[in-house]
Amino acid sequence: MSLVNTKEMFKKAYAGGYAVGAFNVNNMEIVQGITEAAAELKAPVILQASAGARKYATHTYLVKLVESAVIEHPDIPIVLHLDHGPSFEVCKDCIDGGFTSVMFDGSSKSYEENVEETRKVVEYAHKYNVTVEAELGKLAGIEDAVNVDADKAQFTDPGEVQDFVTRTGVDSLAIAIGTSHGAYKFKPGQNPQLRFDILKEVSDRLPGFPIVLHGASSVPQEFVRMVNEFGGKMPDAIGIPEEMLREAASMAVCKINVDSDLRLAMTGSVRKHMAEHPDHFDPRQYLGDARDAIKTLVEHKINTVLGCAGKA
Ligand code: G3H
Ligand code: 13P
Ligand code: ZN
Repeated sequence: MSLVNTKEMFKKAYAGGYAVGAFNVNNMEIVQGITEAAAELKAPVILQASAGARKYATHTYLVKLVESAVIEHPDIPIVLHLDHGPSFEVCKDCIDGGFTSVMFDGSSKSYEENVEETRKVVEYAHKYNVTVEAELGKLAGIEDAVNVDADKAQFTDPGEVQDFVTRTGVDSLAIAIGTSHGAYKFKPGQNPQLRFDILKEVSDRLPGFPIVLHGASSVPQEFVRMVNEFGGKMPDAIGIPEEMLREAASMAVCKINVDSDLRLAMTGSVRKHMAEHPDHFDPRQYLGDARDAIKTLVEHKINTVLGCAGKA
């Protein structure tokens, strides 16, 4: 199987009441850990690269790493997706350079600018069979989202989604329902909440249309403890409860974005390895542990959060 776009993947996910994991990739061990887990569980998977990842690893290395995973694991569908594409030019670069899906993130622009630029990306991408994700609303830290009416603007306005999707021709839509990027999504003692009412209203207005959830790391406490135990400092790192993600996956959410959890797994296991083996200086030893931790984490997500095992 070669790289695929998200079209069929999302159609099946929507119908089956599960979501596909979209994992951020920055180097070889991350690509390997994720795809080994997906292949063993026969799960579809999305590997996504941010602008930062392209700067760090370079476009060519990322594409070749992902193409290598496709060769190693021919039995599962793999998407290579641009995460948070900041402009038409970056999206075009990725479309021309082998990506099968791109996100144009116009969430910081005015509604009309977002429509206009997303439409332009869609027009170009569809010529090359590349699918496009866009974003409406802005992800916010939970402190911006709790009981403060004035901050409602941060959440996606369900009243806008039909017009946006019709005018842009976009293939999937990221919405803001209370998730946020990073490892500090809620304050200690705060009751984590997502606006499932907004998700429901969006899906009622867009029947059968795939929705994307960004900022969806669950911040596993075992890795937070590991980081802190072995010299790190990440007090009060809190993520989205897994049962909420599972609930979203059973609704219209077809793509769940995870980056912070991979960072935590990698950092925790490298810290632990270094602390326990002060004599080791072969990177394959500690990066091997990091790769194993990522694989275990992704297996857990596929089995207990995404529900996409056996759906390849
Ligand atoms: O949503 C953002 C992702 O976590 C990517 O982060 O831009 O630091 O690669 P990054
Ligand atoms: P997390 O920071 O919750 O992992 O979100 C990642 C993400 O949304 C990438 O686009
Ligand atoms: Zn994101």
